[in-house]
Amino acid sequence: MYTGSRSHIQDIVVKRNSSRKRSRNGMRNHFTPAKEQSSFTSGTCSVGDGHTYTQDMTENKDTELCCSDNEDLFEGYDSIVGDSSFLAELEDVELQMHQHHKDQQTPKSCEDQLSDSILVEDFRDSPLRTLPSSQLAFQQAVMTPQKSPSRGAHSTSTPDLTNLKPAASHAGVNKPAPKARRSMKDHLKKVLIDNASTSNTISKTVQQKEAVMTEEMSVAMQAMESISAEGDLGPFFGLPSRVKDLILRLKGIQDLYDWQKTCLSLDSVQQKRNLIYSLPTSGGKTLVAEILIFKELLCRKKDALLILPYISLVQEKVRGLSSFGIELDFMVEEYAGSKGKFPPVKRRGKNSLYITTIEKGHSLINSLIEMDRLENIGLVVVDELHMLGGGSRGAILEMTLSKILYMSKSTQIIGMSATLGNVRDLQMFLRAENYTNDFRPVELKEYVKLKDSIYEVDPKEEECFRFSRFLEFKYSSGMQKMDPDHIIVLATEVIPQQSCLIFCATKKNCENLAGMICKYLNKEFLKHKEEEKATLLGELKSCGNGSLCPVLQKTVPFGLAYHHSGLTSDERKLVEEAYSSGVLCLLTCTSTLAAGINLPARRVILRSPYIAADFLKRSQYKQMVGRAGRAGIDAMGESILVLQDKDIIMAKNLVSAPVEKCYSNLLHDGGRGLLSLILSLIGLKITTTKEQVRDFMKGTLLSVQEAQVSPERSLWDLTVESIETLRQKALIEASGDVKDETILQITRLGRATFKGSVDLSYCDLLYRDLSKGLEGLLLNSFLHLVYLVTPYDMVHQCKPDWMIYFRQFSNLSAAEQKMATAVGVPESFVARKAAGQSMRKSVDIMVVNRLYLALVLYSLLKETNLWNVSDRFQLTRGFVQSLLSSASAFGSSVLHFTEELEEFWAYKALLLELTRRLTYCVQAELIPLMEVAGVMEHRAKQLYKAGYKTLAHLANADPKILVQTIDNLFKRQANQMIASAKMLIKEKADALQEEVDDLLMLPSDLPSL
Ligand SMILES: Nc1ncnc2c1ncn2[C@@H]1O[C@H](COP(=O)(O)OP(=O)(O)OP(=O)(O)O)[C@@H](O)[C@H]1O
Ligand SMILES: [Mg+2]
Repeated sequence: MYTGSRSHIQDIVVKRNSSRKRSRNGMRNHFTPAKEQSSFTSGTCSVGDGHTYTQDMTENKDTELCCSDNEDLFEGYDSIVGDSSFLAELEDVELQMHQHHKDQQTPKSCEDQLSDSILVEDFRDSPLRTLPSSQLAFQQAVMTPQKSPSRGAHSTSTPDLTNLKPAASHAGVNKPAPKARRSMKDHLKKVLIDNASTSNTISKTVQQKEAVMTEEMSVAMQAMESISAEGDLGPFFGLPSRVKDLILRLKGIQDLYDWQKTCLSLDSVQQKRNLIYSLPTSGGKTLVAEILIFKELLCRKKDALLILPYISLVQEKVRGLSSFGIELDFMVEEYAGSKGKFPPVKRRGKNSLYITTIEKGHSLINSLIEMDRLENIGLVVVDELHMLGGGSRGAILEMTLSKILYMSKSTQIIGMSATLGNVRDLQMFLRAENYTNDFRPVELKEYVKLKDSIYEVDPKEEECFRFSRFLEFKYSSGMQKMDPDHIIVLATEVIPQQSCLIFCATKKNCENLAGMICKYLNKEFLKHKEEEKATLLGELKSCGNGSLCPVLQKTVPFGLAYHHSGLTSDERKLVEEAYSSGVLCLLTCTSTLAAGINLPARRVILRSPYIAADFLKRSQYKQMVGRAGRAGIDAMGESILVLQDKDIIMAKNLVSAPVEKCYSNLLHDGGRGLLSLILSLIGLKITTTKEQVRDFMKGTLLSVQEAQVSPERSLWDLTVESIETLRQKALIEASGDVKDETILQITRLGRATFKGSVDLSYCDLLYRDLSKGLEGLLLNSFLHLVYLVTPYDMVHQCKPDWMIYFRQFSNLSAAEQKMATAVGVPESFVARKAAGQSMRKSVDIMVVNRLYLALVLYSLLKETNLWNVSDRFQLTRGFVQSLLSSASAFGSSVLHFTEELEEFWAYKALLLELTRRLTYCVQAELIPLMEVAGVMEHRAKQLYKAGYKTLAHLANADPKILVQTIDNLFKRQANQMIASAKMLIKEKADALQEEVDDLLMLPSDLPSL
């Protein structure tokens, strides 16, 4: 698996050397018991002059099959001391003895450590070389003292000779057990020194060799010191200490939790096997993933992919990790919404971290497979792995991971989640090991409220709920009527000093509840952080171009706000930032806040056990209550679920049942996932025959769960049927037989569909619409083009208001009205509808509704004011904004679709410009600033006004001045914004440099004599 890394090892000789400097921090001598050594400097030993070096140096080149983690740790040593020396010879012997020792131990220790593993691969090293018996005897003598029981207990459980990390005990073990094995050289040295001090029988030659060795080591250490200044690799889980310092500086994290250390030291992690780790919410899972990503980028020099479920999370991560990228010299590339290049730009000198949404991650992997570059991705991390069970998005994630598993044996997959009910299925699918721990930095206490009593949740008790206390309150009859569930009492027990989140069933509930609470709040609340709240209101107003949501206007002075998808992303951001900084103390929100962003609270209240009309699922409940307790701020967190009598039985099940299982979604929605998977397999030439498709399917989650997900139809039947459907839809065709097997190939329409990531259920329709469009494309207005990229799947989300429709239709130019009639919406139809009359003529209502959405988008393009447009169409501004971003994403899909079809050549230039306009539906001058992750229109305007007009202005800004000139901007955000801008400039400059290099490169096939 790693044998290909030889040349790679050569490349980083210099870096390896530097690891020794790191271990000097420990300044331990080799008499320090291994178990007393910190896990951060695991495996350090000393030489006589007091210098320490990582024992991993004793590794031999032969171990490269498991060396990826340790590439830095041994070859540099060899290059300094030289193979011909006496010590090097002995080292060889020692290595082989270690190997032998480990080979004997491996099966047992792997079992100990990975009893949860379903796939313990054999990573054994190359066989022992035969040794002269005298040498073996000598070695035996030197090794004997090491075989104490305690050492045995700490010895590594895998054949990874360089692995001196704490014993990776399996699930549930918090404290790592540091261990170290002395190198042969150390033992030899100890013997020599001991001998020298106790008797004079030691030969002069040995003394001289010792002196030479010490001298050599000292020179080596000096060399290493000078080299390490250039950025070395080392003791922080294989990374330079600088990474640890950066984690402190940029994240404020001083030390890793014990479980994090254990997890990072797992053999599966060391040896790049796939891993799933599951811990409760707020357990600190992200940091482990980030350290592994840094290791992949810096030590193994490969690219990494981080898949997150939401665009907001991608933006947050891009902002947070850009600073690391700048400091550690790797690229951070955003793949979310309409951002991201396919295939990604090849970067010669640097490695890239691609941070993607599920959909963009899939497209990225497809493009890398197509370009034969998948092997460049060394690590794929999937956050919230349970998303595999999440409808069509789950299907896309499954396709992505199945393709990686099938196509690249060297890409490691790591998945994390807080809510996994059937981890074994996922382990089978990902061929992964599992690490679980129930660590939570802040204790979470779960309660339910029934009438005026609070009960503690204790699933172990038969009743599940144990009485805790009565609620104390004095309500007037009016108040009792307004707040029958005593939410105000529950909230005011913690606010304004501490924070509170209240999850509500619907968006309307959120707004009503925030308003209702404020009605009864004491005037004292107004005084808390008065100035900051006034600034926030000003900000909200200016991001609405002078308009301010009346609910927020009322609630913000009390420190309250609502948060749901009806807000614009600018407003959401302002509310989130104000809540994080304590300016707001309470948010009423929908369930989207539970998974979307990291906004914990001292107390979490679940207003009812429903989301809309559906009873909560266990995993949703866990995610919501998991927001309680802020690490480093609260000593504990608590959740209170408000119950009515009728919900008690269901609620008992909710708090005690295991989390729901996560099932394959390839068959979701009539098997759309399976169809599009097979189409892309054939499109990418991953498989060309039915048999090969069958082989591929064996590696999917669907195959693991075949019996549960499709008890009546076998996967093979489903596969054959899907292939047939694709043929009938003319997306694939047979191109002849080879050895009795029909070769399948993609058609032009199939390729366009797959390249554009167009949903299979719309591809025919899209083709027809585009063809019809060509017959009379209206080009003196954007309306026709906008109509063509109005997403089909949003049509059912909005019913037209016929009066508004008619008014808007009447305002169209004659040419636009003609075009509307041509696509199937005659004015007479809209007029009659507005007048409440029925129509005899049949029209396609889908087309009518789609044109209505196109009118919304068209208005938006014309005036770029979200608030005016949502007012005009009586839609929430959040909906209008998500319509806009869906249209821009669909626009780029349609663009890729048309690029594959010759007959649509004319669309290319038109759609390119249209998509750009939809993506940045703002004044043109703000576009460069909005390229920075998470900089929304409002912030861009502020920056522009303050004189930061370009990326270069922002990248070179002084954070102190920025904080002073931009309202409501905190130092940390300013730093992150500057780092993201720097990263973008680097990316652009790099891409240009690549282009220059390509241009100037001498063609390898230049004709010569
Ligand atoms: N070793 C640590 N010391 C102190 N704080 C930490 C440590 N590790 C992580 N944290 C902090 O704990 C908080 C929660 O971490 P994180 O977001 O990784 O949780 P999570 O396990 O991913 O939870 P969820 O399942 O809710 O996403 C973050 O603010 C993070 O900075
Ligand atoms: Mg997380």
